[in-house]
Amino acid sequence: MLKDTDTLIFCPGIRTCGFAEIKMALKNKKCQIIATTIDTKGFKETKKIIEKTELSNRIHIKIEDVTKPLPYNNKYFDYIYARLILHYLTKQELDKTLKEFYRVLKPEGILFIVVRKKDCEVNKHNFEYDSNTKMTTYKFINSDKKSTPIQISRYFHTKNSISDHLKTAGFNIE
Ligand SMILES: C[S@@+](CC[C@H](N)C(=O)[O-])C[C@H]1O[C@@H](n2cnc3c(N)ncnc32)[C@H](O)[C@@H]1O
Repeated sequence: MLKDTDTLIFCPGIRTCGFAEIKMALKNKKCQIIATTIDTKGFKETKKIIEKTELSNRIHIKIEDVTKPLPYNNKYFDYIYARLILHYLTKQELDKTLKEFYRVLKPEGILFIVVRKKDCEVNKHNFEYDSNTKMTTYKFINSDKKSTPIQISRYFHTKNSISDHLKTAGFNIE
């Protein structure tokens, strides 16, 4: 979905490796990418990988929390790539974040999102649901079953729930 004219790209929630961001930078030689995370360990590892690709003059990695006001001007980005990050946010954080995305995205810009669907990964008998934040808290057991289970909280979405949040922030949905 990236066009050659999409030269300023925002990628909140970069994953270790930054594969998607590297592909974008290789596809469009003119684009500048700002990629953020709150994971300091992942940040260091990803930075090393990006440096090896010699794309660090075009992929700028930062520690930045997407739930806080974003330090970018209005209508700044052509494209926002938010894959598998928005379901980390509570209902309240999600509304604030999408409002900020709307502000920093150009009017003709595209917000690409992927969120996890309801009950993904959850052991149906062992979770807590908070109706105020819409977060489901559960123990995640890695598929290798060797690592210690970790407790995580996610807002699992239906097509309607994520669509409602997007519309509230002002987005048209394709
Ligand atoms: C599952 S990874 C997804 C990575 C990548 N976008 C992908 O599609 O593979 C989620 C990432 O979002 C980051 N993240 C979670 N909450 C965040 C927040 N409030 N602000 C910025 N990044 C956040 C996590 O640290 C992690 O790096």
